[in-house]
Amino acid sequence: MSNPSEAELIHRFKGISFTTRSSPELLKSLDSFDAREDDVLLVSYPKSGTHWLAGVITKLYNTQVILTSPIEFGDISKLEELNKLSSKRIIPTHLDYNMLPPNFKNKKCKMIYISRNPKDTAVSMYHYYRDNPNLPTIDTWTAFFDLFLKGDVVCGSWFDHFLSWEEHANDKNILFLFYEDMKKDLPKIVKQISLFLGLNVSDNDIQDICRKSSFSEMKSDTEKENNDPSHTVCALTSNRKLIFRKGAVGDWKNHFTPKQNRRFEEIFNEKMKLSKMAKSLTY
Ligand code: A3P
Repeated sequence: MSNPSEAELIHRFKGISFTTRSSPELLKSLDSFDAREDDVLLVSYPKSGTHWLAGVITKLYNTQVILTSPIEFGDISKLEELNKLSSKRIIPTHLDYNMLPPNFKNKKCKMIYISRNPKDTAVSMYHYYRDNPNLPTIDTWTAFFDLFLKGDVVCGSWFDHFLSWEEHANDKNILFLFYEDMKKDLPKIVKQISLFLGLNVSDNDIQDICRKSSFSEMKSDTEKENNDPSHTVCALTSNRKLIFRKGAVGDWKNHFTPKQNRRFEEIFNEKMKLSKMAKSLTY
């Protein structure tokens, strides 16, 4: 049996590609979502470390929260289902700032945005596309590279996503994080997250959370959890092996040709010329 065609897997909403797992009706009704003041949003462009951050946050709360699937994944009944949850909700999303349900903004819900060097993000997304039957077939890295630069991938352009959130990086209810900083000094970032969330967590607990959140620990949990769909934040796969791939900084160097790197840098410099935070991204 051949793979589903791109048209069967992808549709566009407000110019951005979504998979058919995000129904147009759901996307249209996001604006009416009734947020709660204590909701916490976990925001990312795909492949930026969403699962890692989700693991840290749920451990910080010590299971007193419900981690939902991304708000934009599902059909029209999704918002109703979220409404029915009685516990505090940790809600992931890959939406850019402009598409976020306005109620989250009006109620000043806490939001944690995680970003990652877009070159590594592109490579991670390439592998994810290649091995995921719920995404269009990608023949080569070169083909994917072009699509990524054009923003013609699920969740749209990395550049637009980052810029839409960077504009709000200094809002009091938003914490802006980088994957590379988590790799460099996880305890420091976990402490920062706990303070932002107003949680009182001992240094011992922070050490323990960091130990349990290492790539090797999280990857080995994968095998134990036996592909249970409820164990992935991502609604496009229940296969955690697709999520915990390599967990490294700088894997782009194994994929980019020198020419691709020059082209990427050119586009990056042009698109990010007004960005203050882009410089923090590791190159
Ligand atoms: P790679 O494909 O480069 O390995 P997301 O959760 O947003 O889908 O991001 C997935 C990326 O985060 C993958 O990158 C994955 O390996 C990495 N990742 C997941 N858990 C990690 C951890 N505990 N430490 C470091 N990287 C992690």
